Amino acid sequence: MAQYQTLLVNKDNGVTTITLNRPEKRNAMSPQLHREMYDVLTDLRYDNETRVIVITGAGESFCAGQDLKQYFLEMDSQPERVRDEVREKSRQWRNEMIRKLPQPVIAKINGWVFGGGFTIVSGCDIAIAADDVRFGLSEVNFGHFPGGEVTIVLTEHLQPKHGLYYALTGQTMTAKEAERIGLITKAVPRADLEKEVQELANCLMEKSPHALKAVKEAWYYTFYSNPEVAYEISNLISDRTKLEQGGRPGLQQFVKKEYRPGLGAFKWEEKKE
Ligand code: COA
Repeated sequence: MAQYQTLLVNKDNGVTTITLNRPEKRNAMSPQLHREMYDVLTDLRYDNETRVIVITGAGESFCAGQDLKQYFLEMDSQPERVRDEVREKSRQWRNEMIRKLPQPVIAKINGWVFGGGFTIVSGCDIAIAADDVRFGLSEVNFGHFPGGEVTIVLTEHLQPKHGLYYALTGQTMTAKEAERIGLITKAVPRADLEKEVQELANCLMEKSPHALKAVKEAWYYTFYSNPEVAYEISNLISDRTKLEQGGRPGLQQFVKKEYRPGLGAFKWEEKKE
């Protein structure tokens, strides 16, 4: 795996953890970080060793949003071509690539989340936060608004009375509040964060990777489609998943009474080529 200046990448038994690694800048997203996230996610898509991806932050912050100096002030004087390249990568890795990855992606939220950091959280499939973490749409505090993709993405995830409250006041919210309004999956005691995420990753690794990919595709690709198109997409994904798994092994094991699908996953084995 390549070496990165702004990320740490650790592979451990199927779980690949990407740590945003600019703790001295509270993991604010610099142009370099965007380029590296784009590259690492491109690589992981084709990495058969990676069954689950975890994104977290080094130090006391998950992500303090865009780097206010490097992404905004310094980018203003860059040539248009560079600005476009960085903006496009910034958008793609958070709002497109994570969703399109075949592997499930978990946000392990260890600390501060501000501004653009919200779109990492909303981009991930599952988000678990330590209960003492605080989240804030702070843009209004510096005379701006949740720009780029932030407002666009959050309107998909939050009710207006929740999202607008935080965007207009710039106040922080607790992890419990983030859970209540649907920004994250779950807030857990800080001492349990590591264990919760590992257990979740273990649970996901028991499933067929083809089934996990199908769950994500069905969810994200049908979201904006009209019901008829959504149904067709769903059927196509279903046919392909059957092909990839060589039929319906899960149902065959069920009729042979080898397991109870209501209580756990069937025994999945990748076909040898
Ligand atoms: N962009 C650039 N640098 C940032 C940053 C950001 N979004 N957030 C923090 N930093 C830098 C600070 O400039 C400081 O750098 P320096 O040591 O070179 O001066 C360093 O990170 C530590 O910041 P500091 O404010 O001293 O840390 P803190 O622990 O007291 O507070 C925060 C942490 C996250 C509450 C605070 O840094 C903050 O409010 N950051 C801005 C968050 C924000 O509004 N993000 C929205 C961006 S769209």
